[in-house]
Amino acid sequence: MEYRYFGLNSGQKLLQNALRHGGFAVPAFNAYNMETIQAIISAARLTHSPVIIAISESALKYMGDDMLMGMISGAKIQPNEQICLHLDHGKSVESCMHAINIGFSSVMLDFSKHDIDDNITTVAEIARYAHARNVSVESELGELSGIEDENTFGTKSVYTDPDSVYEFVRQTETDSLAIAIGTSHGAYKRKNADEKLRFDILEQIQNNIPYTPLVLHGASSIPADFIKTINQYGGNIQNAIGISLEQLNFAATKTHICKINIDSDLRLAFTAAVRKNLHDDPSNFNPRQYFDMGRDAIRDYCIFLIREVFHSNNKI
Ligand code: G3H
Ligand code: 13P
Ligand code: ZN
Repeated sequence: MEYRYFGLNSGQKLLQNALRHGGFAVPAFNAYNMETIQAIISAARLTHSPVIIAISESALKYMGDDMLMGMISGAKIQPNEQICLHLDHGKSVESCMHAINIGFSSVMLDFSKHDIDDNITTVAEIARYAHARNVSVESELGELSGIEDENTFGTKSVYTDPDSVYEFVRQTETDSLAIAIGTSHGAYKRKNADEKLRFDILEQIQNNIPYTPLVLHGASSIPADFIKTINQYGGNIQNAIGISLEQLNFAATKTHICKINIDSDLRLAFTAAVRKNLHDDPSNFNPRQYFDMGRDAIRDYCIFLIREVFHSNNKI
């Protein structure tokens, strides 16, 4: 099914708009069920912000193609709402083609762990397929450290080499490029909160490819309040540190970073709300009650990021 049938916009339209106008970044929030999809779309509608709904391969498997696209259809998205449905960290050409064929308007082919020639050839292949259908392609150069759900401190990080980005973009025709400047996936990103992102590398990259929107993965800030609530109500998450909001705000408003990916923060928001609700009302066994709290917590945190950090409100 073509993505326009669902009222979706391509990623490229949203990101080129952000690059051209400057001063804001489009949020990419990860979703994996009805509540997360509703929360993200509500936040976008309440703030008039463009938004990217990011679906990982494992999230797609969890929901199933028909269930996901049924929910997207049920959301009655309008083209002027500037909502994009994006495959996050696609691991193969087949997986990206599949997403495009069921209605995604943007795909990421993540071949960052392969050698650069392989990365170029494979991204160029999916770019040809995607562009013939007006779908946009994100790719990645450099490696983010840490793996979602693993308690690593992300010691392995290979920054993106600014000298290789021009040829990479030229040969692949990728629409946007994810870069490694010190962020990592999951809740354990840093040993201390003072560690700085490599904005010097970012500056060199954007000088070399000034017309390519850049993407920041692994950008959750891991709010201390969520961790405190989770631990207060029976959880156990220790030494989790994310990217400071000041650095995210700088990236969003003063650089060519046009898309910022947030997953872990939303997981924490949901978990904190559910744990508190179950604690406060121990006799409740109606999931609708605590899922509702989790959904509101995600929506409110998305609104906070949109308004206070990414400045994408009123940018549609
Ligand atoms: O960047 C990765 C995302 O956070 C997705 O994680 O594969 O556990 O859904 P997941
Ligand atoms: P976080 O784990 O920092 O939320 O990163 C999410 C992400 O990059 C999804 O692609
Ligand atoms: Zn990512």
